[in-house]
Amino acid sequence: MQKNILIIGACGQIGTELTLTLRKKYGNNTVIASDIREGSENLMNSGPFELVDATDFDALEEIVAYNEIDTIYLMAAMLSATAEKFPMRAWNLNMNSLFNVLNLARQKKVSKIFWPSSIAVFGPNTPKNNTPQHTIMEPSTVYGISKQSGERWCEYYHNKFGVDVRSIRYPGLISWKTMPGGGTTDYAVEIYHKALSDKAYTCFLKEDTVLPMMFMDDAIRATLELMESDAKNIKIRSAYNLAAMSFNPSELAESISSHITDFKINYAPDDRQAIADSWPSSIDDSKALEDWGWKAEFDLAKTTDEMLKNIS
Ligand code: SER
Repeated sequence: MQKNILIIGACGQIGTELTLTLRKKYGNNTVIASDIREGSENLMNSGPFELVDATDFDALEEIVAYNEIDTIYLMAAMLSATAEKFPMRAWNLNMNSLFNVLNLARQKKVSKIFWPSSIAVFGPNTPKNNTPQHTIMEPSTVYGISKQSGERWCEYYHNKFGVDVRSIRYPGLISWKTMPGGGTTDYAVEIYHKALSDKAYTCFLKEDTVLPMMFMDDAIRATLELMESDAKNIKIRSAYNLAAMSFNPSELAESISSHITDFKINYAPDDRQAIADSWPSSIDDSKALEDWGWKAEFDLAKTTDEMLKNIS
């Protein structure tokens, strides 16, 4: 039986590291990277690559057949800040790409799907601290609306058609290999680069804005652990809450200052503040522990060590 993996959106912040990790684990030629543009040299040189638009069903169907794909990771999406500027384009990309892979699974052309959800599924009426798995959601951003609708469709395709789709509500992700693009939690990556290059950073969120965050190694490990779990353990087919740490920009700056003593942070909140204000401060991820044994390894201090070491 064929066992190849397709990553759609392989050149993005998560896709790059996911592709490299899966290639290390399953072999370079087993993991087909795809995106609408080419990615980093490291990624492009590590194995096969297909240029594809995730909203083009026929093109995806052909790639799946040609490469004997069994599992798809759909990482292509327009993130929260960009989606506010281009609502219809965001809806088109985020929803149609998901329908494409769900329908490939419904037609039995692939057998397993991973699709990322986000803390953006929550909104201003959601309990802010230790946000439960099941609670009021009411997202108020274009991106959040697309992620919440996506979760509903994933659960629907699982219940109605037996599609094996699995998902995580990622917190803000901090990584050094590939920059994030167009998100609200991007400040927590930019700040490390600016700390090293300029010893100063102007933050687009207020100093006391607490958001849930996670180091990329934890996020990739969570994704693989979820995908490798026995199907009977996966009781949630919308998306699992997932957590590692919560902090605000001032606490992050302090953690950087313990390495770069003359680091200075300023605050100039912009449109992204309203997006951040609508999201939870911390997340209850006990279901992920219960169902598939999730436990985070990186706290803020460890994340700062890794970020500063690897960027410089
Ligand atoms: N990190 C994403 C963003 O800020 C949320 O999933 O848009």
